[in-house]
Amino acid sequence: MFRIGNLINTRDTAKGPALAKVESHTPKIEAPDTVKAGEPFKVKVKVGPHPSTPEHHIAEVTIYFSKEGKPFNPVKVATITFEPGITEPEADVVMKVDGPGTIHAVAYCNLHGLWEGTKEIKVE
Ligand SMILES: [Fe+2]
Repeated sequence: MFRIGNLINTRDTAKGPALAKVESHTPKIEAPDTVKAGEPFKVKVKVGPHPSTPEHHIAEVTIYFSKEGKPFNPVKVATITFEPGITEPEADVVMKVDGPGTIHAVAYCNLHGLWEGTKEIKVE
């Protein structure tokens, strides 16, 4: 069965022509390795360097959080849309969690499709 999950490139799964696009398209997530339960922390998501023109741009990044042990994952954290020509594909989001899990950032390039980066978060 052909599923959308199979269309999301990652550092581990990119192959063929996508291999040359890994560095420029996989979202990089900067966040603390460990946070305190319920306390806000900053998450920075960056894609690129990548062009930002109407012909070729990162249109949006959606951030999700999958919590360890939660029956249905993920929960959506934020979607950031980028206007080509005036923005760079980078955004800061403040979030809080009550348990450990993984942040997923999924970027959409209008020419090169979907790309996912992840970062594990521990909670003390
Ligand atoms: Fe691209």
